[in-house]
Amino acid sequence: MEVHNVEMVMSAVQPSQYPTDGLPEIALVGRSNVGKSSLTNTLINRKAFARTSSQPGKTQTLNFYKVENQVFFVDVPGYGYAKVSKSAREKFQVMIGEYLEKRQALRGVVQLVDARHAPSREDIEMYHWLTSEEMGGLPVLVVATKADKIARGRWNKAEREIKKTLQFSDQVSDFEMFSSETKYGKEIVWEWIEARMLD
Ligand code: GTP
Ligand code: MG
Repeated sequence: MEVHNVEMVMSAVQPSQYPTDGLPEIALVGRSNVGKSSLTNTLINRKAFARTSSQPGKTQTLNFYKVENQVFFVDVPGYGYAKVSKSAREKFQVMIGEYLEKRQALRGVVQLVDARHAPSREDIEMYHWLTSEEMGGLPVLVVATKADKIARGRWNKAEREIKKTLQFSDQVSDFEMFSSETKYGKEIVWEWIEARMLD
């Protein structure tokens, strides 16, 4: 999609604050600092529309970005940030669960993992939850980001490791390497999103 118009429409912590425009929504999930905001910025051709940060755990609300008046990207707070309190973490979990399990407008989830490392226990739990029967066949795209930080010759091995650790299934999900630095994977991620918008 050729993007000219983006609005950061709103932040929400509960369903009454979600947008009411009736547009399809694509959620971005992944641990703090994995690159969710950077992926958003790459897809919408902006340097710093979604705030990126070297300080993990900055984003604490669901942030809805309206793109070309056609779709919302929903930046979900990163999980697995040890320094937030247990009660804050539990509040996040309720907020994220309410959104991902119940939101009618949600057409797909992009789960980001770090291309350099085997997925963490929380990545694995998230993947299994997203692809579980209770999600009712919600489309999932696993994006291995920061691919620029590993040599091209190691990408296949990295992909195999990630898929093995996640017990990845092509029946219920897709996979793509990505870099916000080089923009590698941008077109394919956009194609996946556009297909979900038509589902
Ligand atoms: P939270 O909002 O805290 O959950 O983090 P986030 O997932 O939104 O991560 P963010 O996009 O803020 O990126 C975190 C850091 O990783 C920043 O310093 C980014 O510049 C860097 N980063 C993100 N994506 C890439 C990438 O593809 N390649 C490289 N080299 N760095 C990246
Ligand atoms: Mg962020």
